Amino acid sequence: MKVLVVGNGGREHALAWKLLQSNKVEQVVCVPGNGGTATLERCQNLPLAVDDFEGISQFALKKGISLVVVGPEVPLSNGITDYLQNQGLMVFGPVKAGAQIEASKAWAKALMQEAGVPTATAAVFRESAAAKSYLQAQGAPIVIKADGLAAGKGVTVAETIEQAESAIDTIFQGQFGSAGNFVVIEECLLGQEVSVLALTDGLTIRPLLPAQDYKRIGEGDTGENTGGMGAYTPTPIATPELMARVQTEVLEKTITALRNRGIDYRGVLYAGLMVAPNGDFKVLEFNCRFGDPETQVILPLLETPLEDLILACIDQRLREMPPLAWKEGAAATVVAASGGYPGDYEKGKIITGIQKAEAAGAIVFHAGTKLNSAQQIITEGGRVLNITGTGENFQEAIAQVYTGIKHIQFPGVYYRRDIGHRVLKIET
Ligand code: AMP
Ligand code: GLY
Repeated sequence: MKVLVVGNGGREHALAWKLLQSNKVEQVVCVPGNGGTATLERCQNLPLAVDDFEGISQFALKKGISLVVVGPEVPLSNGITDYLQNQGLMVFGPVKAGAQIEASKAWAKALMQEAGVPTATAAVFRESAAAKSYLQAQGAPIVIKADGLAAGKGVTVAETIEQAESAIDTIFQGQFGSAGNFVVIEECLLGQEVSVLALTDGLTIRPLLPAQDYKRIGEGDTGENTGGMGAYTPTPIATPELMARVQTEVLEKTITALRNRGIDYRGVLYAGLMVAPNGDFKVLEFNCRFGDPETQVILPLLETPLEDLILACIDQRLREMPPLAWKEGAAATVVAASGGYPGDYEKGKIITGIQKAEAAGAIVFHAGTKLNSAQQIITEGGRVLNITGTGENFQEAIAQVYTGIKHIQFPGVYYRRDIGHRVLKIET
């Protein structure tokens, strides 16, 4: 079978890599892909934009693509699944109506409230004065969210009323485009964030291993928020008891609520949870796709062929699938970033040491890279590579990452040296 993967990040490289481990997958085409997918065996890139639905569809139909797997949220929320399905293609990823669960925080909040899913208390406003008077009544700390896709930048955890007011002003001034039509003001939750990615066929929903990512740029979780600087799985915070509660109180309730709204949601439902020190949890957000960089640690431990799971979701046969098989142990990943990220950074730097890192046992997923005309891998984004390690325990997995990442060189390379510190403290 030939598979087309939409996207160009580390997540998409990991999806292509995992799919190609199966001898049933003869070829993967990545749209547009990156330097990693360009150099992966049996994989090739197709230089189309992720929102060129017509181009993707024509290529897929002409080349006999039997499955399209969509990575990012933007094409999903613009209806890529609906479009390609109408052309007769098989697509993994929810339809546009389902992708609202990520694309509109107000919509997702209403769904959670209706379904009785534990989530932070929140209110939605369409104009500044009402938002600010609610804010005064609530006090700080408080969380201000733009109601839409803002590439992870639409959320402010405000320590003071002044910070919250200025976040409200920024949103209503249109900084986030149409995501600025509504503001969601939400109770500030404390604890540790856990990502539960689950596969669903609209009726049955099965979680993958729970993961944790590191969102801040700086060591000790300091500095600006990023798309994610590292991750690990399975996190010990998500105990079997907690996962059982997430299954019934979050995942099943949400799928039922979606069905009640007439939405046949097939794909990944990703619940971002805040787990309090006493073990209680609330949902911070839902995403309609695989997480990045969580996918880069979850898939290396997955033993069940990914295409079997994906096809079972599309054909609504997930209930018949045997329990998911996982490698024992742990996986961790660290992002090698361009100097200056998440602010301005330069591109086009030649990267060396990838093969040495791989020879040391690490898996190197490319994120912001490309293959230049001289067949060299160069930097093309802020988050450049995801150096991933696996092992019988976290100590082994993390050691493999840091042994591998030492070989990676390009001018300005930056990475956090403390990824995994939370689990190592628990393990040792
Ligand atoms: P979201 O896009 O809604 O997940 O928000 C992005 C990030 O903001 C989350 O990953 C959290 O780190 C933080 N955040 C969001 N909502 C809350 C909340 N209610 N309390 C504390 N932190 C939050
Ligand atoms: N790792 C966070 C996300 O994928 O949204």
